[in-house]
Amino acid sequence: MTDRYAVIGNPIEQSKSPLIHSEFARQTGQHMEYGRLLGKLEDFLAEVRRFFASGGCGMNVTVPFKEEAWKISSERSPQAESAGAVNTLSLGRGGELRGDNTDGVGLLRDLTENNGFALVGKRVLLLGAGGAARGVLRLLVEGGPAELVVANRTAAKAESLVASGKDYGPLRGSGLDALAGGRFDLIINATSAGLAGEVPSLPDDCLAPHAWTYDMLYGDAPTAFCRWGAAHGADRALDGLGMLVEQAAESFFLWRGVRPNTGPVIALLRRGRKARAEGDGA
Ligand code: ATR
Repeated sequence: MTDRYAVIGNPIEQSKSPLIHSEFARQTGQHMEYGRLLGKLEDFLAEVRRFFASGGCGMNVTVPFKEEAWKISSERSPQAESAGAVNTLSLGRGGELRGDNTDGVGLLRDLTENNGFALVGKRVLLLGAGGAARGVLRLLVEGGPAELVVANRTAAKAESLVASGKDYGPLRGSGLDALAGGRFDLIINATSAGLAGEVPSLPDDCLAPHAWTYDMLYGDAPTAFCRWGAAHGADRALDGLGMLVEQAAESFFLWRGVRPNTGPVIALLRRGRKARAEGDGA
């Protein structure tokens, strides 16, 4: 029987994970299927149980179930533990649910390996203090920036998020309204403002010379934060397409023990996006 995997979320029809994982499987010669499951909040655990009981091997979990997946995991990786969220589920040897979080690895790989950004010694601003920010904070800290400010519209949430890592000197929490005078080499947008086409309100001069911006969101058109970065003189204004593929690759590796080549899959998604933007419906 072919090994079965799926991504569960709500909504789910827009998910690119089936395409990404089927490309990884084709590339690495792995026999597996990867489908989509529309989850319901009141029935999430039952749906996950049904999937694994019927022979499923692994699941990706997306909005709005990542916290719920954390709660139902009986074993969690250190990444999942500190993120308070799980995006990758698998079965342990004894049939127990194992939760991982590959979002932080995905962001770091895309930023540093695919795009060549050196985090060590840089001044980094992480925008947002929700699940998306929590998922990547630990690995950003480990990347060795000279300064790491977590800024949120609701300052108290940023302060409580950094409280867990307060023994790390360069890390501090802030309100968006207290950023005046700060200069950053990298600004990462982990807020959901872009879903409404908005950008967190930032001082116009908070980008240092040669700074980069990174939006964890992506879309067919440049995101609002990518446009903000470009308009404010960022050397590079990246979106989250590469992170999406890299977090998927890490999940694939956890399940299959094989590391896919992400470059061709990122390029494939970019070509699809370009074709759609040019209106040929590809
Ligand atoms: P996610 O799981 O995607 O992180 P979340 O936990 O709901 O979603 O968090 C959303 C984040 O985006 C929060 O940090 C939120 O700021 P508040 O805590 O002040 O609500 C931030 N956010 C959403 N819309 C925003 C906007 N228009 N400007 C600035 N921040 C915004």
